Amino acid sequence: MKIAVVYYSKTGNTQKVADLIAEGANKIPNVEVKCMSIEALDNDFLTEVKAVIIGSPTIAGTFAWQLKQWLDAAKNVGGKLGAVFATANYVGGGAEVAELALIAELLVKGMLVYSSGVAEGQPFIHYGAVCIQDGDEGQKERARIFGERIARKVVELFS
Ligand SMILES: Cc1cc2nc3c(=O)[nH]c(=O)nc-3n(C[C@H](O)[C@H](O)[C@H](O)COP(=O)(O)O)c2cc1C
Repeated sequence: MKIAVVYYSKTGNTQKVADLIAEGANKIPNVEVKCMSIEALDNDFLTEVKAVIIGSPTIAGTFAWQLKQWLDAAKNVGGKLGAVFATANYVGGGAEVAELALIAELLVKGMLVYSSGVAEGQPFIHYGAVCIQDGDEGQKERARIFGERIARKVVELFS
């Protein structure tokens, strides 16, 4: 079962969190995860995956326009499970708004959106993983757990 973690990262924080999410997802048996910057996408792999976990820095209170540009043109994400994560500099800096705006894009593309929410108990992850910059230890662990949960759900839905 293939999963892509796709991110935009200018200064490396979102890339580091993408790696943590991939680390968590890789804990699930029979899952193959590939982390990709939108600037170096492996579109053959992306076409084969069952889930795409998309990450963005928070830029002026929403997600990065680079991801909007990619998603607007993407023809290989529809029908797949989609999940989102964001990094930001500040609590209250808009990371969850960025995530909700991304989720709206995913719905438009025809993706099935999953976050784990409150359905899987603590830690609750309402919209997607959030890290301040590349995260403190607690945020890092939540990112790993998020990846693990998304991978488990993909296997449950698509096996
Ligand atoms: C132009 C610009 C605008 C930003 N706007 C916000 C913002 O509105 N809220 C916030 O918390 N952080 C903001 N940040 C900080 C980034 O979201 C944060 O540093 C992020 O982790 C950067 O991710 P990256 O290292 O993957 O590029 C902004 C950064 C830049 C460069």
